[in-house]
Amino acid sequence: MAPFLRILGIETSCDETAAAVVERDAEGRSKVLSDVVLSQLDEHSAYGGVVPEIAARAHVEALDELIDEALKRANVSLSDVDAIAATSGPGLIGGLLVGLMTGKAIAKATGKPLYAVNHLEGHALTARLTDGLCFPYLMLLVSGGHTQLILVRGIGEYERWGTTIDDALGEAFDKTAKLLGLPYPGGPAVEQMAQGGNADRFNFPRPLVGEARLDFSFSGLKTAVRQAATEIAPLTDQDVADVCASFQKAISRTMKDRIGRGLQRFKVEFPDLPEKPALVVAGGVAANQEIRSTLQALCDKNGFRFIAPPLHLCTDNAVMIAWAGLERMAKGVAPDDLDVQPRSRWPLDSRTGTVLGSGKRGAKA
Ligand code: KG4
Ligand code: ZN
Repeated sequence: MAPFLRILGIETSCDETAAAVVERDAEGRSKVLSDVVLSQLDEHSAYGGVVPEIAARAHVEALDELIDEALKRANVSLSDVDAIAATSGPGLIGGLLVGLMTGKAIAKATGKPLYAVNHLEGHALTARLTDGLCFPYLMLLVSGGHTQLILVRGIGEYERWGTTIDDALGEAFDKTAKLLGLPYPGGPAVEQMAQGGNADRFNFPRPLVGEARLDFSFSGLKTAVRQAATEIAPLTDQDVADVCASFQKAISRTMKDRIGRGLQRFKVEFPDLPEKPALVVAGGVAANQEIRSTLQALCDKNGFRFIAPPLHLCTDNAVMIAWAGLERMAKGVAPDDLDVQPRSRWPLDSRTGTVLGSGKRGAKA
């Protein structure tokens, strides 16, 4: 039986500086003792996206204090933690260096083991912390940098079934917002405008719908939005609302087709699971109500449970990094050497390469 464990987690892969302390008991039950996140949104919003150099500097300035705060809120000191887990990829290399070097320094100074965690693994395992989910399950990660459908077979056993061949879904929302003159980040702004819009006014493309492969593509949709907006310029507020609603509808229909196929494949590969199969969603786009209800309805129709962890654990945080470290430690996975290097690109499924044209921004996960 795995012992009682407590880990300090550090996350600095993009524009959130985060630290957390999480415990795991012998039965695998978790307790989040602290969860501190400092968003750099204000520093980047003037630029309409994340500026890597600004992000790295902001991590340097904030991280030490944030770790202190996480320990204080957890009411523990460094001597009370069993290990350090730090994100070491994928993400912006400057930020990764800050977090991983800090993790290494603490590990070296205290003699505690270090786990260099893949940020995507953090997202992938969160539903086990929040919902005690058993393997295997399907995970849809939809954030500013990734759109991936991943089969989670076990700790360290991931199969990427689908990924975007161009823009990530959050990126498509952000770019659409930008060209419509809406603020950054674009997702919430587009969703809000869409509420007052006519979703049937524009018939935007639904990329890859009907294809057997489970990949995604969003750049054609963005181009179609640009063309439509150019044709009807200058845009009234109602025009913007209609474009947003039609864009969101195209996305929902696309997701329904792509994920629907994923659920079918899962049922074929795992016909005899003891429990109802599950689809887990993670990433900032998981906040979108229309996408959520599309996925919920799809799961209901296909006999799946739809699991959406609380939003603060869907978006970037250090709890998931601590938890991924705990899962590995409890499984008996050896910690990393202190010469481990950060990796800006680090696919969860090592057998899958980069899909042509994907990850142009490649910064956010
Ligand atoms: O996971 P996240 O907080 O950060 C990283 O990408 O690492 O995701 C941010 C992304 C942004 O692209 C943002 O526009 C999108 O999630 N997003 C949304 C919504 N809220 C955030 N997209 C659609 N609808 C939303 N309500
Ligand atoms: Zn992420």
